[in-house]
Amino acid sequence: MQYGFFDDERREYVINNPRTPWPWINYLGNEDFFGLISNTAGGYAFYKDAKFRRLTRYRYNNVPTDSGGRYFYIREGETIWNPGWKPCKTELESYECRHGMGYTTLTGVHNGVKAELLFFVPLQTHGEVHKLTLTNQGSGVKRLQIFSFLEWALWNAATDMENFQRNFSTGEVEVEGSVIYHKTEYRERRNHYAFYSVNQPIDGFDTDRESFFGLYNGFDEPQAVMEGKPRNSVAHGWSPIASHCLEIELEPGESRELIFLFGYAENDPQEKWDNGGALNKRKAQEMIARFDSVEKVDNAFAVLRTYWDQLLGNFRVKTGEEKLDRMVNIWNQYQCMITFCFSRSASYFESGIGRGMGFRDSNQDLLGFVHQIPERARERIIDIASTQFPDGSCYHQYQPLTKKGNNEIGGGFNDDPLWLILGTTAYVKETGDFAILDQSVPFDNESGTEVPLFDHLTVSFDHVINHLGPHGLPLIGRADWNDCLNLNCFSDDPNESFQTTENRSEGSQAESLMIAGLFVVSGRDYVELCNRLGKNEEAARALHHVNRMVETVKQHGWDGEWFLRAYDYNGHKIGSKENIEGQIFIESNGWCSMAGIGQEEGMTEKALDAVKERLDCEHGIVLNNPPYTRYYIEYGEISSYPPGYKENAGIFCHNNPWVIIGETVLGRGDRAWEYFRKICPSYSEAISDLHKVEPYVYAQMIAGKDAFRPGEAKNSWLTGTAAWNFYTISQYILGIRTTYDGLIIDPCIPPEWEHFHVTRKFRDSTYHITVRNPEKKMKGVKAITLNGKLLSDNMIPIQPPGSECKVEVTL
Ligand code: GLC
Ligand code: GLC
Repeated sequence: MQYGFFDDERREYVINNPRTPWPWINYLGNEDFFGLISNTAGGYAFYKDAKFRRLTRYRYNNVPTDSGGRYFYIREGETIWNPGWKPCKTELESYECRHGMGYTTLTGVHNGVKAELLFFVPLQTHGEVHKLTLTNQGSGVKRLQIFSFLEWALWNAATDMENFQRNFSTGEVEVEGSVIYHKTEYRERRNHYAFYSVNQPIDGFDTDRESFFGLYNGFDEPQAVMEGKPRNSVAHGWSPIASHCLEIELEPGESRELIFLFGYAENDPQEKWDNGGALNKRKAQEMIARFDSVEKVDNAFAVLRTYWDQLLGNFRVKTGEEKLDRMVNIWNQYQCMITFCFSRSASYFESGIGRGMGFRDSNQDLLGFVHQIPERARERIIDIASTQFPDGSCYHQYQPLTKKGNNEIGGGFNDDPLWLILGTTAYVKETGDFAILDQSVPFDNESGTEVPLFDHLTVSFDHVINHLGPHGLPLIGRADWNDCLNLNCFSDDPNESFQTTENRSEGSQAESLMIAGLFVVSGRDYVELCNRLGKNEEAARALHHVNRMVETVKQHGWDGEWFLRAYDYNGHKIGSKENIEGQIFIESNGWCSMAGIGQEEGMTEKALDAVKERLDCEHGIVLNNPPYTRYYIEYGEISSYPPGYKENAGIFCHNNPWVIIGETVLGRGDRAWEYFRKICPSYSEAISDLHKVEPYVYAQMIAGKDAFRPGEAKNSWLTGTAAWNFYTISQYILGIRTTYDGLIIDPCIPPEWEHFHVTRKFRDSTYHITVRNPEKKMKGVKAITLNGKLLSDNMIPIQPPGSECKVEVTL
């Protein structure tokens, strides 16, 4: 069953049934101020950091699910209803939610009143606009009361949920005119506040939660609303909220627009107070003045839409596969922006508290983002590299507000450093900005330790060769990409986290074939970069290590029909036919195939055929098989998951593209496409009841063939799947690959595709590329012309800035 449809023209997903199988959400904002919003107005907002600067409160895993958000209650007579159906769930005559690029609209009709809400964060603004349009569609006069509602979080999302003995005494607000200010802790060490305003005089307000709801009522029956009587409460401690009350009278056919602004402001410590000793509200007033009329708001909204037109204009495809085109042109690129902004911190599955920005995650997110806003990618690379240690190891995560490495999680994930090479080279290939490599970047944010960024890549590379195990393969450390393959942890205490418990890597023989494959791929990137920079000696040194790793993998990493996954602490094989469970894994086979290791000897082909035979299923490729059916203390968290879920034989979508790229290395476009399509969310729209999460974005995991309900997805939005799939479809299936000196055109497609067209902006020029496939090939460019001239190979050199180029390709 479907709960909506794609409106590609407007770049929206339209939900027309509010009872989706799980809250289907969207994100507001893409700079500093962020919001999450569901299809029934649930969600919350934060400034930069979902943990340290949480602005509104949200209760994860609540009953009912998705409770709390940006609510508007409309009261007519004795009835109260919400334009987004929840929380009152009064039946609506019509309901529609449109999730678009950085905005969401909710439209509800009840008893002849239409209420339309537009939520968005204007560019360069630390706030959200909530525009409410009310229309009387009936024949009589309508007298309505409107109550807005937000619940403030006391800034730190973690202590906000824990430290009630303090929290219940600290809450403070101010109300002035139509503006409600939240200023808890402003009296002491905080120089920031939040506010909620409306552009008209109000008829009452509430700022104390219990006064508004009544102590025993839920979000669906606020007493003040039910009685139609705002309490004009001023919060002192307990839980501060913001609610405006407005009385509205509408003639038949009349419309009224109200503009609410929910903002955040920081003051200089010297300017915290105004002359009378109250909060200095100047910044809020300035922001309010920018959005105090419908015209100003509509302009800001138009600017946001144009901004997305431009961003998405950098890569556009037309294949004739509607479901593919809408993912590539709209939703996949949009999701890449979201993962770039949040890494894995805040979604409906990530509480925003546990995880900051991942070193490994953020580097991979760059693969899908560098073509969108290169300047921001540049800044991110510098931030990430600044959390590295001089020996190349790094903090696994950092907090976006402080940009400092996160001590609680620590480091020791031995794949981490290599992703910096991939992220940085992807950026330089996209932009040609070699100067970034000379930029001074500190270690562990210590001033005085700065070295050129290039040296960070060198220590990243060397970290692997300085940490080789008994077979000459990379030592795994705490874990590699698979956070749950904890070979040095041996945890028997349920109170400790697998991710942070003591890492017994001293004396361990645990080696990773996944890191080996990643090392070969990123190592070759490093070699190519060195050569490009004229550092020939360093290139030769690095190439020697890469080639040696290739040989080592062939010698010690090959199991006969596929690549091993790892050696454990005691040097026993993992991912081998010798094992009873977990005989074959996706990660090592994906990476070693991408690296083309043993291609001449037929290893790559065999490995990928084994993946097809043993890991593929109806909904995608599972991570390992057979799944672990019991806990193995020597493997750790991977075996803690029931079979078919997460890292234990779930379809971990993030790593499917590695196999897909591997298939393109072999030229098997049919198989690459088959795999791509299986996990592509727009193809699951019709099975939403099973799939459960949004059909417009990738999920981290789909339950695998061994699970109770195969095909059920979880953890949507924040996943490396977004970047990897965009990278895979754009650079390997459609085959438009960035290099330092131009674009390589090397598609690998299913034979039945007759042609496709891509518009690609690259280094200030636009390339209009048409690929024709008259002979039903899967790979191999036969002829290519640039502006009518035949080229000698499939590389289009960089054209003068501002060029419009026509590229015609025949397979
Ligand atoms: C999560 C983590 C990512 C890790 C993956 C596999 O998605 O964010 O860093 O690689 O799980 O364990
Ligand atoms: C758990 C998850 C994994 C995630 C890790 C770090 O191990 O299974 O996907 O990467 O936690 O938070």
